[in-house]
Amino acid sequence: MATDPAYRTADPDDFAAMIEPGRYARRSSDFEEIIARTEEHFWNPEDRDYVDFSAPWSGDDTIVPFWFVLENNTAVWDRLDEGQRIALTNESARWSVSNILHGEQGALSLSASLCDIFLDPGAQEYAANQVREEARHVHGFTRYVAARFGGATFPVGDTIGALLKELVATPVVYKKIVGMQMLVEGLAMGAFTTLHKVARDPLLRRLCQLVMTDEAFHHKFGKIWAHATVPGLSETEHAAVEDWALECFNLLLFNLVNSQQKRLIYPRFGLDWEWVRGAVLEAFTDADRRAQMRESTNVFRTLVRTLLGAGIITERTRSHYAAWVDMDALSAEKDRFLRLAADFDNFRKRVAQESERRAAVQKKAFILELLPIIDNLERALGSGQSASREQLLQGVEMTLQQLDRLLRAHGVEPEESVGQPFDPRYHEAVASRYEPSQPDHVILETFQRGYRYNGESFRPAKVVVNDLSKPETSDSAE
Ligand SMILES: [Fe+2]
Ligand SMILES: [Fe+2]
Repeated sequence: MATDPAYRTADPDDFAAMIEPGRYARRSSDFEEIIARTEEHFWNPEDRDYVDFSAPWSGDDTIVPFWFVLENNTAVWDRLDEGQRIALTNESARWSVSNILHGEQGALSLSASLCDIFLDPGAQEYAANQVREEARHVHGFTRYVAARFGGATFPVGDTIGALLKELVATPVVYKKIVGMQMLVEGLAMGAFTTLHKVARDPLLRRLCQLVMTDEAFHHKFGKIWAHATVPGLSETEHAAVEDWALECFNLLLFNLVNSQQKRLIYPRFGLDWEWVRGAVLEAFTDADRRAQMRESTNVFRTLVRTLLGAGIITERTRSHYAAWVDMDALSAEKDRFLRLAADFDNFRKRVAQESERRAAVQKKAFILELLPIIDNLERALGSGQSASREQLLQGVEMTLQQLDRLLRAHGVEPEESVGQPFDPRYHEAVASRYEPSQPDHVILETFQRGYRYNGESFRPAKVVVNDLSKPETSDSAE
């Protein structure tokens, strides 16, 4: 049952609630700004001006640094030669990128399911935009896996797989929204921020930067939504949300990246995942984990800050997180996401060049069409000596018709104003006259013809208007 007034949602099957006539106007203005800015961060994985998936990369280098890999500085490392270390690092990167790809699909399916249940048309329009952007991320990471790993995507890790499955399927609205907008988005932002900073492959850094530019807005949606919703929750509802957030946090903290999750990558190195787990546990203590979380870019740190900012963490659960992060330092940190916007300069430059080029082509084509008219006028002048005045007039008349046809073909229409009622959209009154035989406000004379372009006034006609109110001002032209 997704009908939940606390979150202004309806059951996904309750289409009647969606088309209830009064609903459309019950649109909050909370999301207008992020909806309006959608176009601003548009990018296209197929467009090399944004990201070039054909950029080469040598398999001898690692996509992420050694230290980024769990097994680095453990007994595992000692068992591998340099080539194997590089290969294991790249397999770990493939594993991470594969799970990011699954996460993006989860975000796509989840935001689509939110789109189905939001009663606030503003939230719904936002969710529809998010669906479109998550689809772009799925596309982008699919291209990345193809470019760097020959298209070999690992199956989803058990932990993230189970969480995504639950979030997509659950009819419980807070689980869906908190899980999605706080946890998945928070985790994603953390992962992208880290990879953008440390990845050695410039293509991965660029992709993360572009994806982050969108994610910053998803993250912002979570914040706006939480500010609008969380303070209105009852104590029981808040507790349910808070507990759910902690449950997910713990699940992710202890299971997101561990040897069991990554077990598919070890056999080719002659390693057994349980042995790897033992080696990692031996080398990696809780103190190390805490030290890692102090790194401002750490994935979980971002996640906790998200929950904190949304007002989801209260004194009830604060101590659980405080075991891992310095909560006071975290609260003081500023949200930098919106400032990480990708530079869209190249694309903007290309669009500007393209429209300049198109304008030049159109201008040239129009000038080419004008040239035969000039030819005709020159011919008429050339024959001026021998031609009669009548022939000359006829020639000019025909040239004028030719020009008229050309303008009409380009959407320019001359106006017939005389006898028409005065309309300030198309006419400019330069004088008025008293003409009792004609209706009031009718155009009596045109000083200069008006033109319309594609139906709209292009140049207003200068006209004399009938004014029956003032017989004495007859012929008051300036
Ligand atoms: Fe995404
Ligand atoms: Fe997202």
